[in-house]
Amino acid sequence: MKQECKIGMISGTGTEGQGIALRLAAAGLQIALGSRSLERAQQVAGELNRQLGQERVAGVDNRTLVANSDLLFLTVPFVHVDSVLQQYRDQFSSNQILVDVTVPVVFDKGPRLLDLGEGSGAEYIRGRLPDRVPLVAAFKTLPAHLLVKRDIGLECDDFISSDSVEAKEHTLEVVSKIPGLRWIDAGPLRACRALEAMTLLAVMINRRYKIKFARYRVLGLEHE
Ligand SMILES: NC(=O)c1ccc[n+]([C@@H]2O[C@H](COP(=O)([O-])OP(=O)(O)OC[C@H]3O[C@@H](n4cnc5c(N)ncnc54)[C@H](OP(=O)(O)O)[C@@H]3O)[C@@H](O)[C@H]2O)c1
Repeated sequence: MKQECKIGMISGTGTEGQGIALRLAAAGLQIALGSRSLERAQQVAGELNRQLGQERVAGVDNRTLVANSDLLFLTVPFVHVDSVLQQYRDQFSSNQILVDVTVPVVFDKGPRLLDLGEGSGAEYIRGRLPDRVPLVAAFKTLPAHLLVKRDIGLECDDFISSDSVEAKEHTLEVVSKIPGLRWIDAGPLRACRALEAMTLLAVMINRRYKIKFARYRVLGLEHE
C-alpha cells in the first residue's frame, strides 16, 4: 500500500472501530474515523487523540470518509450491513479496498451465528458489492474490548482472508504495523465460514470462563 494510503473507519464510533483506529494510530498512522453524525465522529476522534497524546484521528461524516479513503474498514454491526452497503456501494471504487470486520453473531437465548445462505458474513457482503471493489476480511477474531485497551498488549494472532491476493497484501502492509499482533493468511474469503465461527467460540469461552479477552494463537508456524 502506498505511503499516503488513507485509512478510514465507516461508523468507527463503536468499540471495534475505535479499537482498530486506536491501535493503528498508536502505530503511527493517520486515521479518519467516520460516523453517520459528524458531531459524534469528532467527539470520538477527540477522545482517541486525547488517549494518544497527539492528533492522529480525524472525525468525519461517513459520506466524506468513503469519498476520501483508500482502505475502508466496515465497522458496523452485521445487521446494518445491508443499509450501509446500499448507501455507499455505488461510491466504492476499484482503487479502494473494503475491509470487513463484521461477524454475523446475534444474541438470542445466547450467542449464535446468523444462518446465511452465502456461508459467511464476508461472502454475504462480497455478493452485495460491485465486482470492481476488492474485499478483505480481517480483525474478525479480535475482541473489541481488548483493542481499546492500548496499555494491554494483544500478543495473539488474527486472520486475514480475501479472494484478491493484491488487496490482501496491501491491507497486510497497513495492519502489520500493529505491534504484538501476528497475521495469519487464512486464504480466500470462504475461510470466514471458519473464522466467524471462531469468533462465536471466543464469545462462548469468555462467557463460560468469565473472562473478556479470549483470542487465538496458532502453534506450529515457522515465523512464531
Ligand atoms: N465487539 C467485538 O468484540 C467484535 C470483535 C470482532 C468483530 N466485531 C464486529 O465489529 C463490528 C462493530 O462492532 P461494535 O461492537 O463496535 O458495534 P457497535 O458499537 O454496536 O456499532 C458500531 C457503529 O455502527 C453504527 N450503527 C449503529 N446502528 C446503525 C444503523 N442502524 N445503521 C448504520 N450504522 C449503525 C454506529 O455508528 P454511528 O452512529 O456513529 O454511525 C455505531 O457506533 C460488528 O460487525 C462486530 O460483529 C466485533
